[in-house]
Amino acid sequence: MSSKSVPPARSLSGTIVLTPDKSIAQRAAIFSLLHKGPSTIYNYSQAKDPQTTLQCVQNLGAKVEIEADKISIYGVGREGISALTDELDCGNSGTAMRLLSGLLTGAGLSIKLIGDHSLSRRTMTRIISPLEKMGAHILARNGVFAPLYISRENPLKALEFTLPIPSAQLKSCILLAGLFGEEESCVIETIPSRDHTERLLQLRVETNALGTRRIYSSKSDEIPAQNYRIPGDYSAAAFWLVAGSIVPNSAITLPNVGLNPTRIASLQILKEMGAQIGIIEDNSEFDEPVAELTVQTTELTGIDIPQEWIPNAIDELPILAVAMAFANGDSHIRGAAELRHKETDRIMAITKLLDAIGSSYVEYDDGLSIQGNPNLDFDCAQFESFHDHRIAMASAIAALQGNKLSSIKDAEATAVSYPEFWNHLNLLRH
Ligand code: S3P
Repeated sequence: MSSKSVPPARSLSGTIVLTPDKSIAQRAAIFSLLHKGPSTIYNYSQAKDPQTTLQCVQNLGAKVEIEADKISIYGVGREGISALTDELDCGNSGTAMRLLSGLLTGAGLSIKLIGDHSLSRRTMTRIISPLEKMGAHILARNGVFAPLYISRENPLKALEFTLPIPSAQLKSCILLAGLFGEEESCVIETIPSRDHTERLLQLRVETNALGTRRIYSSKSDEIPAQNYRIPGDYSAAAFWLVAGSIVPNSAITLPNVGLNPTRIASLQILKEMGAQIGIIEDNSEFDEPVAELTVQTTELTGIDIPQEWIPNAIDELPILAVAMAFANGDSHIRGAAELRHKETDRIMAITKLLDAIGSSYVEYDDGLSIQGNPNLDFDCAQFESFHDHRIAMASAIAALQGNKLSSIKDAEATAVSYPEFWNHLNLLRH
């Protein structure tokens, strides 16, 4: 890994066709394996995480054919899954490891799941204890971390499980295991997390008057073929929404951005900060809500993010922290302790980013307060990505506001979710 130099930007303008949605792509691959027969997916992601997942599903028996922007995945169905390798390498992807752990528990395969340095340091306790209740035997390093050795000798038990944290990875893990059960399993969600799994698998969902959702899965659910076009990744769009707001004389257009309502709290946050974002809905080619987004330079004001918005903005908090550093007034991110369990401890990583640009902040266990300054002045900032794709990209956007060349250590981390990021930045520079 090496350092990348990032010069300041005088203006950003143009149209960017975003990288495909990582969360949807990974699910498309896993659910295609579970469907018996062909699935055709357009615009599958070239990013590392979705490619890792695609390799894993091939190692579980799926055949994959790639032709331009179309991939065909021939799934083997629930009964046909088999371990063609001794271990599955989930790379940097928490989504791959947690969803596949559920699937393997359901299928009753004995297999080892491994991950890279970062993934091997992220807690797996949240999935281990419910999966053990469903009958899995899971051996983990120190009882908590990957590698995970998963097996199941006893029959699968259905589980009614109330999510202790709003995690779509945990929810999807349990629902995937549940798909193999004679009796129905049910995940109860009081705070909404991203709902791609229940949408793409067309699972039964009941919502009560208080908004609590009960999502069911069992063997009798048919697994639909995954025939669709993957929209642009909103989490990638967020970097340009902030860049287009804070870099002078900017105007950026982002066609075909996925606007799943469980993903876009940061859009609301940026609007409340005063960002000038245009939204033109166009769902013609996609199954999920999709729109063209436009953004232009404007002065932002600080915000105290309502805590109930945090789960639906969790991946965007690093780039929102950059927006807050250049806004008028103070901003507060609280109730976001989950950030400490991402690809790196993102609260720590954000404080290092803010240190690099001379921004003032207070760090809490569960977030930060940031003292905004639209005239924040810095020269050669030295950023560190901590091998985290979102920290690398947030650093790059902050670097655009410097007076001189900045540098980002381990900037290649962007390829985990957005391999085209640096090219897109060059296309936008004017
Ligand atoms: C994801 C869910 C979120 C998110 C991650 C992708 C998914 O994690 O942070 O980038 O695809 O399900 P949690 O479910 O752990 O909150």
